[in-house]
Amino acid sequence: MYDVTLIPGDGIGPEVSQAMVKVVEATAVEINWEVVEAGAAVIDEYGTPLPEYVIDSIKKNKIAIKGPITTPVGKGFKSVNVTLRQTLDLYVNLRPVKSFKGIKSRYEDIDLVIVRENTEDLYAGIEHKIGNFAGESIKLITKPACERIVEFAFKYAKDNNRKKVTGVHKANIMKISDGLFLNTFREVAQDKGIAFDDLIVDAAAMNLVINPEKYDVMVMPNLYGDILSDLCAGLVGGLGIIPGANIGKDVAIFEAVHGSAPDIAGQNKANPTAIIQSAIMMLRYLGEQEKALQIENALSQVFEKGEVLTQDLGGSATTTQFVDEIIKYL
Ligand code: NAI
Repeated sequence: MYDVTLIPGDGIGPEVSQAMVKVVEATAVEINWEVVEAGAAVIDEYGTPLPEYVIDSIKKNKIAIKGPITTPVGKGFKSVNVTLRQTLDLYVNLRPVKSFKGIKSRYEDIDLVIVRENTEDLYAGIEHKIGNFAGESIKLITKPACERIVEFAFKYAKDNNRKKVTGVHKANIMKISDGLFLNTFREVAQDKGIAFDDLIVDAAAMNLVINPEKYDVMVMPNLYGDILSDLCAGLVGGLGIIPGANIGKDVAIFEAVHGSAPDIAGQNKANPTAIIQSAIMMLRYLGEQEKALQIENALSQVFEKGEVLTQDLGGSATTTQFVDEIIKYL
């Protein structure tokens, strides 16, 4: 029996989380879900969107899965996601991007992995106003953070039989901060026995659109990882598909890449694939390889058949119908 913290989130979060739980439970893996709430809904009661009991639950169980949480844009409280990553030092953001046969997209056979540094860069939250006419955000890049994320990327590549690691940066312009990332990448890469190269982030954006199949594992600082991982989601059918994991030394939080989608919340329309794929990653992390594969195969069959798809994928099925279809194949 595994104890897993479940943060359903808000918007479409509760719907997709419930769908995920139903699919995971259909494999008969024994999980005790410790459900805890975070986000705007708990602020009145606890004075914060991220109450201490949420952090305590994750620290205790060491593993969590979460739905999206709405973050006010340009004002209001700090992102719960960013706070969780920083508080628990979840320094890796891992986003595998893989095509499914049957999901309409301009590309086929994409299979790449974005490894994003998750704790610093422009997301360190070091920013301030300069009078009423300027704002300054500090881009913090440190050598230890570069080392551990690049080490992780190469270890992941080795463990998963990947062929190449590409470091993404903008060291031609930000010679000190991104320069440190690039130099560290090259140093760490030397003795790994895996092919590597590096690429400037703007060129990476263009190449990923023209020739995405050329890339395998890509490692990069926080901001570039955030942007390119959404770009990559677009290569394989959109945000409703892609999973993600935030991984630290001994704690991991699995989550969908998409947001709380307020435009379709509460309508039984959301595509739960992203959080289901995040659960597949979680099962693999727990060593439940067989159960993970069962769900992956069921998803593949549903997509390949293409008869029961949610609206974002051109179908007309509800979240519930889609989940029932997956369970048929388990
Ligand atoms: P979003 O990802 O929520 O929505 C963008 C578009 O994609 C919308 O049209 C939405 O309907 C669609 N979409 C997203 N997920 C879908 C799914 N599973 N199935 C079907 N369609 C889906 O991004 P948006 O609108 O920029 O952000 C909304 C809120 O979510 C914001 O407050 C943002 O800060 C927050 N957010 C939270 C994240 C998290 O908790 N991990 C990640 C990204 C955004």
